[in-house]
Amino acid sequence: MKLNDPDRPETKVALELRGVSKSYCSESGSLVQALDGVGLTVQEGEFVVLIGPTGCGKTTLLNIAAGLLAPDSGQVLLGKGLRQGDNIPCVFQHYTLFPWRTLLHNVTFGLEMRSIARHDRNDTARALIAKVGLSGFEGAYPHELSGGMRQRGAIAQALAIKPKLLLMDEPFGALDDYTRMELQQMLIDLWQESQITVLFVTHNIDEAVVMGDRVIVFSERPGKVIKKLQVKLSRPRRGLSQEFTKVLVELRQSLGGYVWPGE
Ligand SMILES: Nc1ncnc2c1ncn2[C@@H]1O[C@H](COP(=O)(O)OP(=O)(O)OP(=O)(O)O)[C@@H](O)[C@H]1O
Ligand SMILES: [Mg+2]
Repeated sequence: MKLNDPDRPETKVALELRGVSKSYCSESGSLVQALDGVGLTVQEGEFVVLIGPTGCGKTTLLNIAAGLLAPDSGQVLLGKGLRQGDNIPCVFQHYTLFPWRTLLHNVTFGLEMRSIARHDRNDTARALIAKVGLSGFEGAYPHELSGGMRQRGAIAQALAIKPKLLLMDEPFGALDDYTRMELQQMLIDLWQESQITVLFVTHNIDEAVVMGDRVIVFSERPGKVIKKLQVKLSRPRRGLSQEFTKVLVELRQSLGGYVWPGE
């Protein structure tokens, strides 16, 4: 089966999920259906945001896309150069840097696994650390960094292997508003520079509109796609322009039953 359509060579698919369903068996023996027939396509270079109520299966979906979890049914198709469980990093909400490694050696980790020479991996890591605004902290351990700095480090760590596809699970969810805004802009700059494909989960409606080329809205559990919204606003998307508010309201309405009960 061909993932990319030969009749439309201008559009290349990085990730496609077809009819993906997943249930878990809890320790008490009951069955919880997390995902129900999810279909989703992410084009190369696109920044796609997933938003939906808590427990609707967003993390489950990212784990399936990364190859960390197998779906019960359905298919996960990857674009050129992508291999599950190998070169699709995921940045999580809770800081994932190795506590026993310095920042530099956290960022070099993926390159060590790929047997890149020490000199080259240190150069690559230092350049990325500078890009995420952490120059001078190469020798620091994670506990010596603030939450925002650790997330900058986690992004540098994920980018070190030059991934084509980056998965992000509420990466800024634990940060204060100011730090969140700074990191949103930093991520958009890195994404625009590298043209990497990003699949980004958030709970935050404003963040979804600031970040996404497209926003995919999930239903309550079992999660399924209930809306796909193209966001055509120019970047940077700060400020409450009329156009921004319009998209925000549309998204808010599609989530309305859950986020603002009674509206
Ligand atoms: N390992 C597991 N064993 C049993 N049930 C699980 C497991 N992982 C997730 N679930 C259940 O699957 C459902 C979806 O979980 P998931 O973590 O994917 O949701 P989510 O959309 O990421 O939620 P949140 O927004 O709160 O992070 C939840 O009801 C959860 O309890
Ligand atoms: Mg989650």
